[in-house]
Amino acid sequence: MRWLILLVALLAAHTVEAQEPASGRDLYRGACAACHGTDGTGLPQAALGFDVAVPDFTDCSFATPEADADWLAVVHDGGPARAFDRRMPAFGEALKEDEILRVLDYIHEFCGDGRWPRGELNLPRALVTEKAFPENETVLTTTVALDGAGAVANELLYERRLGARTQFEVIVPFVSHDTGGQWRSGLGDVGAAVKRVLVHSRQRGSIFSVTGEVVFPTGKESEGLGSGVAVFEPFLAFGQILPADAFLQVQAGAELPRRGAKEAFWRAALGRTIVSGRFGRSWSPIVELLAAREMESGARVEWDAVPQMQVSLSKRQHVLISAGVRVPVTGRSARGAQLMTYVLWDWFDGGIRDGWR
Ligand code: HEC
Repeated sequence: MRWLILLVALLAAHTVEAQEPASGRDLYRGACAACHGTDGTGLPQAALGFDVAVPDFTDCSFATPEADADWLAVVHDGGPARAFDRRMPAFGEALKEDEILRVLDYIHEFCGDGRWPRGELNLPRALVTEKAFPENETVLTTTVALDGAGAVANELLYERRLGARTQFEVIVPFVSHDTGGQWRSGLGDVGAAVKRVLVHSRQRGSIFSVTGEVVFPTGKESEGLGSGVAVFEPFLAFGQILPADAFLQVQAGAELPRRGAKEAFWRAALGRTIVSGRFGRSWSPIVELLAAREMESGARVEWDAVPQMQVSLSKRQHVLISAGVRVPVTGRSARGAQLMTYVLWDWFDGGIRDGWR
């Protein structure tokens, strides 16, 4: 009889377990809280005896920009999967993938402030089309003319988040061009912008923001380095996650110089991210379509296409490069093809020399 009761009890316990999988909270308390704390703030380094600090999951500015894919890599394979400390253990054998994802959902509750857009909505940066997500990064873009007179432009972009939904940026271009055998180089027209996220939803996979940019006439117009006039550039940007790791980004706005021809533009970038191996390097082939039209009757729309490839360089995925060619589709005689590349450093995720191995 005793045996029977024991057997029934065991079976009952087993079925309960099978029916009700452990919640993210229970899994977190069992596997993570010893270091990360029940409240998610992380135990003090001194208490753990670690020479590395445990992150604070209640800090929204840290926790929300991280995409689950990166955290999954860290929890599954341990800190070194993303060049973090090996004191962050690997749970790939103790926990199933859906259990890890449940723990990550639970970790995201520690922030508890829905104004912060989630990192999944931070889509790969296209060469020209601006993204909707507010960033902490530095990007150096180089554009080289492939046809006609020689011209090279280097543009340094610095972006910084201000709270949940706002981002500030500064753009400093250095331009060089060949004026019939003689090269002229110098500072171009410096820009500054403020971006504000209007709507975002991880569930729908979309994010929508508005930006106001001002470009100042800092480049010498007489040397062909600047336009000689201040330009106001307001635009909207939209990002959408698509099935099968694909994404679409759209930007539409206007260039409104203080004098001279105003221009409307719209741009779209369609791409897909492919990860090599389980948690390895990410490759994002993207194709952009760019349209611009002067705001006067009879003006024609000018179209350019930009096929390109973005690839992550560092193990932490915080240093990436991209390269592509901007080819005019209409008005080929007036505009030539350009080679475009950038190096991007997401400085919030670590120093440019950290996170490689
Ligand atoms: C033995 C202590 C310990 C345990 C247990 C532990 N962690 Fe960690 N975790 C760390 C340390 C230390 C870091 C910081 C590593 C660094 O910054 O190099 C970390 C970092 C992280 C990060 C941040 C990675 C980033 O992008 O900065 C995540 C996410 C994380 N842990 C999740 C978990 C989850 C989920 C569990 C439980 C399944 C867990 N950890 C269990 C010690 C631990």
